[in-house]
Order: sequence, then C-alpha cells, then structure tokens
Amino acid sequence: MLAALVAICMWVFFQTLDPRIPKWQLDRSLIGTNPGLGFRPMPMNNEESTLIWFQGSNKTNYQIWVDHILQFLDSDKIAKGNGQIKTCSHSDPPKADEVCEVDVRDWGDCNKDRHFNYHMNAPCIFLKLNKIYGWTPEYYDDPNNLPKDMPKKLKEHIRNITSIERRTVWITCEGENPADIEYLGPITYYPSQGFPGYYYPYLNREGYLSPLVAVKFERPVPGIVINVECRAWARNIRYSRSERMGSVHFELLID
Ligand SMILES: *[C@@H]1O[C@H](CO)[C@@H](O)[C@H](O)[C@H]1NC(C)=O
Ligand SMILES: *[C@@H]1O[C@H](CO)[C@@H](O)[C@H](O)[C@H]1NC(C)=O
Repeated sequence: MLAALVAICMWVFFQTLDPRIPKWQLDRSLIGTNPGLGFRPMPMNNEESTLIWFQGSNKTNYQIWVDHILQFLDSDKIAKGNGQIKTCSHSDPPKADEVCEVDVRDWGDCNKDRHFNYHMNAPCIFLKLNKIYGWTPEYYDDPNNLPKDMPKKLKEHIRNITSIERRTVWITCEGENPADIEYLGPITYYPSQGFPGYYYPYLNREGYLSPLVAVKFERPVPGIVINVECRAWARNIRYSRSERMGSVHFELLID
C-alpha cells in the first residue's frame, strides 16, 4: 500500500515537473476540446472585419497584406532547440525526439519572392489549426464512409490516394453561396489539401512547427465581395457555420 502511494506521489510529482506537459492535461474534459481553425492574413485595422481587400496593381496597397503574412510566418518559426528537424512523410513519421519540418518551398507561388501572389490578383491565404496538447485527429480515411456534406471533389481526392495518405485532417475552401462559388473559381492547396497526420499528436516537443496549408485562389472575379468559408475535416472536429466552429469565414475583394 505504502509503496503504491509513494509511487503515485512520485509520478504526480514528475508529471508536474515536466514543463512541456500542461497541468490541465490531467483534466480529461479538455482533451475533447475542439481545435480552432485560423487564417492569415487577417484584416488589421478593425477586429470585427473579415474583409481581405486589396489592389493587386498597387504595391503599397497589397504589401500591407504581404507584410502581415511575413510577420505571421516569422513568429511561427522554429525556436530551434534540441529537437531534430526531419522531413517527414506518411511512411516516415517522426520518432520520439524528432519534429517535422514545415518547408516554405512546398507552397508553390505562395512564397515571399512572389508576394504570395497578391500582385497577380490570385492571393494565397494560410490556414493553421490551433495547437491542443495531446490532441490526435480521427481521420476521415474510409472512402466508403465519408460525410454527406463533404465536397465531392474532396471525396474524389480521398478515393484517389493511398490509404496511408488518408491520415490527414482535410481542408476545403468554398464560396458560401452558389454565386460565391462561381466568383471564387478554382483553388489550389499547398503542399496538400490538409494537415498530415504525422504532425499529431501535438506534444510540445522542442522546435515543433504547426503544419500550414497555403490556399491559392487561382482567379477570383475582381470587383465583387466573395464570401469564403474554409473548413477542417476530422471526426473529432466539431463544425458549426453559425458558431464558426471547425471553420473560418472571410470575404475577398480584389480591386
Ligand atoms: C495605392 O495604395 C495606397 C495604400 O492603400 C493608397 O494610399 C494609394 O492611393 C494607392 N494608389 C493608387 C494609385 O490607387
Ligand atoms: C482522381 O483521379 C482521376 C484519374 O487519375 C483524375 O482524372 C481526377 O482528376 C482525380 N481527382 C482528384 C480530385 O484528384
């Protein structure tokens, strides 16, 4: 009895000592927390606004958005520590002492040298899932059992790829109404259409980088406010458009 008690005390003691493990992890209820989706750039001057409005022909104008993205990518950068950065893949996930790299070269046109494509009126928006300690996604990885409201194109994509690649938190961006869908036009996702499963669970390892998805709007119609919703897809991400759960909303206006 006494030995067991001592063991438990020691365990609790060491748990609280490890600075990387948040104390509230012991509160099971929080493990079920919904990870929020975020986007950049965000409108800066007005907290309430979700309008991304720029002139691709006016460098002074679009540079504000470009700088905002750069700031975000910078602040998100690796605090290089003892963790080993590794180029991960579904077949080569990180080991206990490794973290996966996030490579800006995987983002196509969505890079600094190309002004994140704002000058081409085909802007890139970055999506990120909030970090929740210990959270592990439950994937939509069974092509025969996908949610009814999942966009057809994503379903097709999931059917097209190998089962190991299906271990992904999927991302879709769409116009909110039929007119928005038409105005928004085609979309490309870099490096792929979601957050690969090998980044999870998040365990606050030294040097951990959040995976990002760069969403490139190839040719949105200019001069019109387009309502866009981007959504993250996993069984344990709750979704509600009205409460902005598991999704983000913004408007795009290109002058
Ligand atoms: C370019 O953008 C800046 C900043 O938004 C603005 O002050 C300026 O008037 C714009 N120039 C033109 C030619 O529209
Ligand atoms: C799925 O694969 C087919 C055949 O290779 C291809 O034509 C189609 O574009 C692919 N669809 C998606 C969404 O990747």
